[in-house]
Amino acid sequence: MKRLTDYTWPEYEALPMADKVECLARPDGMPFHTLFAQQFDRARLDRLCGLATEIRSIAKSRAGMEFLQGLLFHKRAMIYFTQPSSRTFLSFLSACQILGLRTGEVRDASVSSEFKGESREDSIRTFSSYFDLIVMRTQEKGLAERMAWALSQSRRPVPILNAGSGKDQHPTQALLDVYTLQRSFERRGGLRGRTIVYVGDLARGRTVRSLSNLLTNWEGVRHVFVAPPQLRIGDDILEMLRSRGQAFEVSSDMAAWLPEADAVYMTRIQDEWDESRGESARIDTSRFKIGLREMALMKPGAILMHPLPRRDEIAPEVDADPRAMYWRQVRNGMWIRCALIAATFDCGSRIDHYFRDNL
Ligand code: NCD
Repeated sequence: MKRLTDYTWPEYEALPMADKVECLARPDGMPFHTLFAQQFDRARLDRLCGLATEIRSIAKSRAGMEFLQGLLFHKRAMIYFTQPSSRTFLSFLSACQILGLRTGEVRDASVSSEFKGESREDSIRTFSSYFDLIVMRTQEKGLAERMAWALSQSRRPVPILNAGSGKDQHPTQALLDVYTLQRSFERRGGLRGRTIVYVGDLARGRTVRSLSNLLTNWEGVRHVFVAPPQLRIGDDILEMLRSRGQAFEVSSDMAAWLPEADAVYMTRIQDEWDESRGESARIDTSRFKIGLREMALMKPGAILMHPLPRRDEIAPEVDADPRAMYWRQVRNGMWIRCALIAATFDCGSRIDHYFRDNL
């Protein structure tokens, strides 16, 4: 078994993804640090979705909540978000509260010692002395990974959960997306062979990158990437799909693909990454929006997803359509994050036992 402590940072950084995944895992195979979507195979995804469903039914009663609150009562979590967030932040905070973890937070590096010139690395290492878990959202693509390596060299390695790293990855969003898809299709033959149509800013959105990765765990999934030409999906994702033998299409014609979709995954334009002011506003996005007319093109059994926040890419009138899943995604996110934190601290079998004995 490969371990982070066996490598210097340059050696670790140069490892192929499969070796990195091994370094980041706990002995039972579940991630210790959760940094990439690639860390989750089908068995781990099924396990987390199952745990999330157990936790949400245990949490319905007072006695169940008391049990859950006792699980990680002795642990503390640091939520370090230096990029804007409301949903993911509150979702992790709520998940920690459900499992009894106490939390601390930094949401603005300008009020921490980073303002005095302390490096991010030193700040995060400081947090690791006070806390048992670090949940981290940053602008910088590789920071969570670098910190996971750095903490592993210290005497007190604490797990890091990546809550969004630059334009690259958002693995816990992908977990909640998969959980939502699984619940939507569990009584209708599952996810195998489904067509997923991703729409919007696929060049700079991290959610689609992580989700398309996770969905390769189901055979025969077809991925359709629909975006204006300037915002098309990265070639690295297409290469990843090719190497896993999954079918994909790249298109800028949303209307043509809506009737084929089992799930439509909308995203907003990520203009915070614009290099010059107003650059995104010059891109014609008018044909990448969903209203009632577009909903009429979708199959009756298809679902409509969005990681949120939305702007105008889904009209509010669509919310009343039973196929609109984005508010359910928000709720599912809290439960799957509970499951991930519980698995990170190896509480899964205690949850299984409680569930079996009491529900
Ligand atoms: C997404 C993100 O931060 O990447 N938001 C989220 O976590 N639900 C999507 C976005 O900001 O567009």
